[in-house]
Amino acid sequence: MGSSTAHTAADDGAAPVIRLQDAGLAFGDRTLWSGLTLDVAPGEYLAVLGSNGTGKTSFLRVLLGLLPLSHGTVSVNGTRPRAAARGVGYVPQQRGFPARTPLRARDLVAQGVDGHRWGVRLHPRRVHRRVDELLARVGATGYADAPVGLLSGGEQQRLRIAQALAADPTVVLCDEALLSLDLHHQHVVSELVHEQRERTGCSVVFVTHDVNPIIEHVDRILYLANGSFRIGTPDEVLRSDVLSELYGTGIEVLRSNGRILVAGRPDSTHHTDAPEELLP
Ligand SMILES: Nc1ncnc2c1ncn2[C@@H]1O[C@H](COP(=O)(O)OP(=O)(O)OP(=O)(O)O)[C@@H](O)[C@H]1O
Ligand SMILES: [Mg+2]
Repeated sequence: MGSSTAHTAADDGAAPVIRLQDAGLAFGDRTLWSGLTLDVAPGEYLAVLGSNGTGKTSFLRVLLGLLPLSHGTVSVNGTRPRAAARGVGYVPQQRGFPARTPLRARDLVAQGVDGHRWGVRLHPRRVHRRVDELLARVGATGYADAPVGLLSGGEQQRLRIAQALAADPTVVLCDEALLSLDLHHQHVVSELVHEQRERTGCSVVFVTHDVNPIIEHVDRILYLANGSFRIGTPDEVLRSDVLSELYGTGIEVLRSNGRILVAGRPDSTHHTDAPEELLP
Protein backbone atom coordinates (compact mmCIF):
# COMPACT_ATOMS: atom_id res chain seq x y z
CA MET A 1 0.00 0.00 0.00
CA GLY A 2 1.34 3.44 -0.82
CA SER A 3 1.63 6.53 1.24
CA SER A 4 0.50 9.99 0.33
CA THR A 5 2.06 13.27 1.34
CA ALA A 6 0.44 16.31 2.82
CA HIS A 7 0.75 18.47 -0.29
CA THR A 8 -2.52 18.20 -2.17
CA ALA A 9 -4.62 20.50 -4.31
CA ALA A 10 -7.09 20.82 -1.47
CA ASP A 11 -4.38 22.41 0.69
CA ASP A 12 -3.84 25.06 -1.97
CA GLY A 13 -7.54 25.85 -2.09
CA ALA A 14 -7.75 25.14 -5.83
CA ALA A 15 -9.88 22.36 -7.29
CA PRO A 16 -7.62 19.49 -8.35
CA VAL A 17 -7.09 18.96 -12.06
CA ILE A 18 -6.70 15.23 -11.53
CA ARG A 19 -8.37 13.37 -8.68
CA LEU A 20 -7.98 9.66 -7.99
CA GLN A 21 -9.71 8.08 -5.03
CA ASP A 22 -8.83 4.57 -3.92
CA ALA A 23 -8.02 3.84 -7.54
CA GLY A 24 -6.89 0.41 -8.65
CA LEU A 25 -6.06 -1.17 -11.97
CA ALA A 26 -5.89 -4.91 -12.61
CA PHE A 27 -5.77 -7.11 -15.68
CA GLY A 28 -7.26 -10.48 -14.77
CA ASP A 29 -5.76 -11.49 -11.44
CA ARG A 30 -2.74 -9.23 -11.91
CA THR A 31 -3.02 -5.98 -9.98
CA LEU A 32 -0.81 -3.22 -11.39
CA TRP A 33 -1.58 -0.79 -8.57
CA SER A 34 -4.33 -0.27 -6.02
CA GLY A 35 -5.37 2.06 -3.22
CA LEU A 36 -4.12 5.09 -5.14
CA THR A 37 -5.52 8.33 -3.77
CA LEU A 38 -3.99 11.38 -5.39
CA ASP A 39 -4.92 14.97 -6.21
CA VAL A 40 -2.87 16.82 -8.79
CA ALA A 41 -3.22 20.59 -8.42
CA PRO A 42 -3.35 23.13 -11.25
CA GLY A 43 0.22 23.83 -12.31
CA GLU A 44 1.62 20.84 -10.45
CA TYR A 45 4.35 18.72 -12.06
CA LEU A 46 4.09 15.01 -11.27
CA ALA A 47 6.75 12.56 -12.46
CA VAL A 48 5.74 8.89 -12.74
CA LEU A 49 8.59 6.41 -12.31
CA GLY A 50 8.82 2.63 -12.17
CA SER A 51 10.22 -0.43 -13.95
CA ASN A 52 8.85 -1.81 -17.23
CA GLY A 53 5.33 -3.16 -16.94
CA THR A 54 4.42 -1.48 -13.62
CA GLY A 55 1.50 0.36 -15.18
CA LYS A 56 2.79 3.84 -16.02
CA THR A 57 1.35 3.99 -19.53
CA SER A 58 -1.83 2.38 -18.20
CA PHE A 59 -2.03 5.17 -15.59
CA LEU A 60 -1.98 7.76 -18.41
CA ARG A 61 -4.56 5.75 -20.35
CA VAL A 62 -6.85 5.91 -17.33
CA LEU A 63 -6.43 9.71 -17.25
CA LEU A 64 -7.29 9.84 -20.95
CA GLY A 65 -10.44 7.78 -20.43
CA LEU A 66 -9.07 4.99 -22.64
CA LEU A 67 -8.93 2.46 -19.82
CA PRO A 68 -11.48 2.03 -17.00
CA LEU A 69 -10.30 1.65 -13.42
CA SER A 70 -10.89 -1.73 -11.80
CA HIS A 71 -11.57 -0.01 -8.51
CA GLY A 72 -12.19 3.51 -7.18
CA THR A 73 -12.81 6.74 -9.07
CA VAL A 74 -10.93 9.17 -11.31
CA SER A 75 -11.81 12.65 -12.53
CA VAL A 76 -9.99 15.13 -14.76
CA ASN A 77 -10.97 18.80 -14.65
CA GLY A 78 -13.86 17.79 -12.41
CA THR A 79 -15.44 15.39 -14.87
CA ARG A 80 -15.08 11.94 -16.45
CA PRO A 81 -11.68 11.59 -18.16
CA ARG A 82 -13.29 10.89 -21.54
CA ALA A 83 -15.31 14.11 -21.34
CA ALA A 84 -12.21 16.08 -20.29
CA ALA A 85 -9.96 14.72 -23.04
CA ARG A 86 -10.17 17.82 -25.23
CA GLY A 87 -8.31 19.77 -22.55
CA VAL A 88 -5.53 17.19 -22.36
CA GLY A 89 -2.30 17.21 -24.38
CA TYR A 90 -0.77 13.75 -24.79
CA VAL A 91 2.66 12.67 -25.95
CA PRO A 92 2.30 8.88 -26.40
CA GLN A 93 5.12 6.43 -25.74
CA GLN A 94 7.17 6.43 -28.88
CA ARG A 95 6.33 4.49 -31.97
CA GLY A 96 7.80 5.52 -35.33
CA PHE A 97 5.56 6.86 -38.07
CA PRO A 98 5.49 4.42 -41.00
CA ALA A 99 7.86 5.63 -43.73
CA ARG A 100 5.00 6.34 -46.15
CA THR A 101 2.88 8.45 -43.75
CA PRO A 102 1.42 11.11 -46.08
CA LEU A 103 1.98 14.05 -43.72
CA ARG A 104 4.56 16.79 -43.57
CA ALA A 105 6.03 17.72 -40.20
CA ARG A 106 3.97 20.93 -40.15
CA ASP A 107 0.73 19.04 -40.92
CA LEU A 108 1.21 16.95 -37.82
CA VAL A 109 1.64 20.00 -35.59
CA ALA A 110 -1.28 21.74 -37.31
CA GLN A 111 -3.56 18.88 -36.28
CA GLY A 112 -2.89 19.91 -32.69
CA VAL A 113 -3.44 23.62 -33.38
CA ASP A 114 -6.52 23.91 -35.55
CA GLY A 115 -8.78 21.77 -33.44
CA HIS A 116 -8.83 19.25 -36.28
CA ARG A 117 -9.71 16.53 -33.82
CA TRP A 118 -12.58 18.40 -32.23
CA GLY A 119 -14.19 20.16 -35.18
CA VAL A 120 -13.28 23.71 -34.01
CA ARG A 121 -11.41 25.48 -36.77
CA LEU A 122 -9.19 28.55 -36.59
CA HIS A 123 -8.40 30.88 -39.48
CA PRO A 124 -5.73 29.22 -41.69
CA ARG A 125 -3.35 32.19 -41.33
CA ARG A 126 -3.51 31.96 -37.53
CA VAL A 127 -2.94 28.22 -37.71
CA HIS A 128 0.08 28.75 -39.96
CA ARG A 129 1.60 31.33 -37.60
CA ARG A 130 1.05 29.15 -34.55
CA VAL A 131 2.48 26.08 -36.28
CA ASP A 132 5.61 28.04 -37.29
CA GLU A 133 5.99 29.26 -33.71
CA LEU A 134 5.67 25.72 -32.29
CA LEU A 135 8.04 24.24 -34.88
CA ALA A 136 10.60 26.87 -33.91
CA ARG A 137 10.17 26.15 -30.20
CA VAL A 138 11.04 22.47 -30.65
CA GLY A 139 13.82 23.25 -33.14
CA ALA A 140 11.95 21.69 -36.06
CA THR A 141 11.84 24.64 -38.47
CA GLY A 142 14.53 23.08 -40.63
CA TYR A 143 12.40 20.02 -41.38
CA ALA A 144 8.95 21.60 -41.29
CA ASP A 145 8.07 20.45 -44.80
CA ALA A 146 9.68 17.00 -44.67
CA PRO A 147 7.48 13.86 -44.74
CA VAL A 148 7.24 12.74 -41.09
CA GLY A 149 7.92 9.07 -41.91
CA LEU A 150 11.40 9.95 -43.18
CA LEU A 151 12.47 11.86 -40.06
CA SER A 152 14.66 10.40 -37.32
CA GLY A 153 13.08 9.12 -34.09
CA GLY A 154 14.15 12.22 -32.16
CA GLU A 155 12.90 14.58 -34.88
CA GLN A 156 9.52 12.82 -34.88
CA GLN A 157 9.40 13.03 -31.11
CA ARG A 158 9.89 16.81 -31.10
CA LEU A 159 6.91 17.13 -33.45
CA ARG A 160 4.73 15.04 -31.13
CA ILE A 161 5.61 17.38 -28.28
CA ALA A 162 4.79 20.46 -30.38
CA GLN A 163 1.48 18.82 -31.31
CA ALA A 164 0.60 18.01 -27.69
CA LEU A 165 1.26 21.57 -26.48
CA ALA A 166 -0.41 23.22 -29.48
CA ALA A 167 -3.88 23.77 -28.06
CA ASP A 168 -2.67 25.04 -24.64
CA PRO A 169 -4.11 22.07 -22.72
CA THR A 170 -4.88 22.24 -18.99
CA VAL A 171 -3.14 18.88 -18.48
CA VAL A 172 -0.09 17.62 -20.33
CA LEU A 173 0.56 13.86 -20.20
CA CYS A 174 4.01 12.82 -21.44
CA ASP A 175 4.96 9.15 -21.82
CA GLU A 176 8.74 8.80 -22.07
CA ALA A 177 8.76 12.03 -24.05
CA LEU A 178 12.56 12.43 -23.87
CA LEU A 179 13.35 9.00 -25.27
CA SER A 180 15.64 9.05 -28.32
CA LEU A 181 16.43 12.73 -27.85
CA ASP A 182 20.07 13.80 -27.59
CA LEU A 183 21.10 15.65 -24.42
CA HIS A 184 20.64 19.06 -26.02
CA HIS A 185 17.10 18.28 -27.17
CA GLN A 186 16.23 16.58 -23.86
CA HIS A 187 17.01 19.92 -22.30
CA VAL A 188 15.11 21.87 -24.98
CA VAL A 189 12.01 19.71 -24.58
CA SER A 190 12.01 19.58 -20.79
CA GLU A 191 12.37 23.38 -20.70
CA LEU A 192 9.56 23.67 -23.23
CA VAL A 193 7.18 21.63 -21.07
CA HIS A 194 8.24 23.65 -18.02
CA GLU A 195 7.73 26.98 -19.84
CA GLN A 196 4.32 25.82 -21.01
CA ARG A 197 3.39 25.15 -17.39
CA GLU A 198 4.70 28.57 -16.29
CA ARG A 199 2.86 30.36 -19.10
CA THR A 200 -0.48 28.53 -19.03
CA GLY A 201 -0.63 27.06 -15.51
CA CYS A 202 -1.22 23.56 -16.90
CA SER A 203 -0.49 20.47 -14.83
CA VAL A 204 2.11 18.02 -16.08
CA VAL A 205 2.23 14.24 -15.63
CA PHE A 206 5.55 13.02 -16.97
CA VAL A 207 6.34 9.29 -17.21
CA THR A 208 10.07 8.70 -17.40
CA HIS A 209 12.84 6.19 -16.70
CA ASP A 210 15.31 9.00 -16.11
CA VAL A 211 14.15 11.72 -13.78
CA ASN A 212 17.36 13.73 -14.10
CA PRO A 213 16.44 15.86 -17.14
CA ILE A 214 13.23 17.07 -15.41
CA ILE A 215 14.16 16.86 -11.73
CA GLU A 216 14.44 20.62 -11.16
CA HIS A 217 10.81 21.08 -12.30
CA VAL A 218 9.21 18.13 -10.53
CA ASP A 219 6.95 18.82 -7.53
CA ARG A 220 6.05 15.24 -6.69
CA ILE A 221 6.88 11.72 -7.76
CA LEU A 222 4.56 8.74 -8.11
CA TYR A 223 6.84 5.71 -7.95
CA LEU A 224 5.25 2.38 -8.99
CA ALA A 225 6.66 -1.05 -8.12
CA ASN A 226 5.45 -4.48 -7.05
CA GLY A 227 1.77 -3.57 -7.33
CA SER A 228 2.35 -0.76 -4.87
CA PHE A 229 3.56 2.84 -4.97
CA ARG A 230 4.97 5.80 -3.12
CA ILE A 231 4.00 9.44 -3.59
CA GLY A 232 5.93 12.43 -2.36
CA THR A 233 8.47 15.09 -3.20
CA PRO A 234 11.68 13.87 -4.87
CA ASP A 235 13.47 14.13 -1.51
CA GLU A 236 10.78 12.05 0.18
CA VAL A 237 10.62 9.27 -2.43
CA LEU A 238 14.10 9.03 -3.97
CA ARG A 239 15.67 7.57 -0.84
CA SER A 240 17.37 4.23 -0.33
CA ASP A 241 15.12 3.26 2.60
CA VAL A 242 11.87 4.23 0.88
CA LEU A 243 12.65 2.45 -2.41
CA SER A 244 14.13 -0.60 -0.67
CA GLU A 245 10.86 -0.98 1.21
CA LEU A 246 8.82 -0.47 -1.96
CA TYR A 247 10.84 -2.97 -4.01
CA GLY A 248 11.23 -5.41 -1.12
CA THR A 249 14.96 -5.60 -1.76
CA GLY A 250 18.07 -3.49 -1.31
CA ILE A 251 17.98 -0.39 -3.48
CA GLU A 252 20.51 2.38 -3.30
CA VAL A 253 19.83 5.95 -4.32
CA LEU A 254 23.06 7.66 -5.25
CA ARG A 255 23.65 11.33 -5.94
CA SER A 256 26.64 12.17 -8.07
CA ASN A 257 27.44 15.48 -9.77
CA GLY A 258 23.86 16.58 -9.25
CA ARG A 259 22.52 13.41 -10.91
CA ILE A 260 20.31 10.87 -9.15
CA LEU A 261 20.94 7.18 -9.77
CA VAL A 262 18.73 4.42 -8.43
CA ALA A 263 20.61 1.14 -8.33
CA GLY A 264 19.97 -2.41 -7.14
CA ARG A 265 22.50 -3.18 -4.42
CA PRO A 266 25.22 -5.52 -5.71
CA ASP A 267 24.87 -7.70 -2.60
CA SER A 268 21.10 -8.14 -2.84
CA THR A 269 20.05 -11.61 -3.93
CA HIS A 270 16.32 -11.48 -3.41
CA HIS A 271 14.72 -9.91 -6.48
CA THR A 272 11.09 -9.24 -7.12
CA ASP A 273 10.61 -6.76 -9.96
CA ALA A 274 13.61 -4.80 -8.78
CA PRO A 275 15.69 -2.90 -11.33
CA GLU A 276 18.43 -4.97 -12.91
CA GLU A 277 20.92 -2.15 -13.13
CA LEU A 278 19.92 1.45 -12.81
CA LEU A 279 16.61 3.10 -12.41
CA PRO A 280 14.60 5.13 -13.06
N1 LIG B 1 -5.44 -3.82 -22.13
C1 LIG B 1 -4.62 -4.64 -21.47
N2 LIG B 1 -4.98 -5.93 -21.21
C2 LIG B 1 -4.17 -6.76 -20.53
N3 LIG B 1 -2.94 -6.41 -20.06
C3 LIG B 1 -2.54 -5.15 -20.30
C4 LIG B 1 -3.33 -4.21 -21.01
N4 LIG B 1 -2.67 -3.03 -21.07
C5 LIG B 1 -1.51 -3.24 -20.43
N5 LIG B 1 -1.42 -4.49 -19.97
C6 LIG B 1 -0.31 -5.04 -19.20
O1 LIG B 1 -0.14 -4.26 -18.04
C7 LIG B 1 1.24 -4.12 -17.73
C8 LIG B 1 1.58 -2.67 -17.60
O2 LIG B 1 1.59 -2.08 -18.89
P1 LIG B 1 2.04 -0.58 -19.10
O3 LIG B 1 2.13 -0.36 -20.57
O4 LIG B 1 1.15 0.32 -18.32
O5 LIG B 1 3.49 -0.60 -18.45
P2 LIG B 1 4.57 0.57 -18.31
O6 LIG B 1 4.79 0.83 -16.85
O7 LIG B 1 4.17 1.73 -19.14
O8 LIG B 1 5.88 -0.15 -18.88
P3 LIG B 1 7.07 0.42 -19.81
O9 LIG B 1 8.06 1.06 -18.88
O10 LIG B 1 7.62 -0.82 -20.44
O11 LIG B 1 6.48 1.35 -20.81
C9 LIG B 1 1.99 -4.85 -18.84
O12 LIG B 1 2.39 -6.11 -18.36
C10 LIG B 1 0.98 -4.97 -19.95
O13 LIG B 1 1.22 -6.09 -20.74
MG1 LIG C 1 4.93 2.55 -20.83
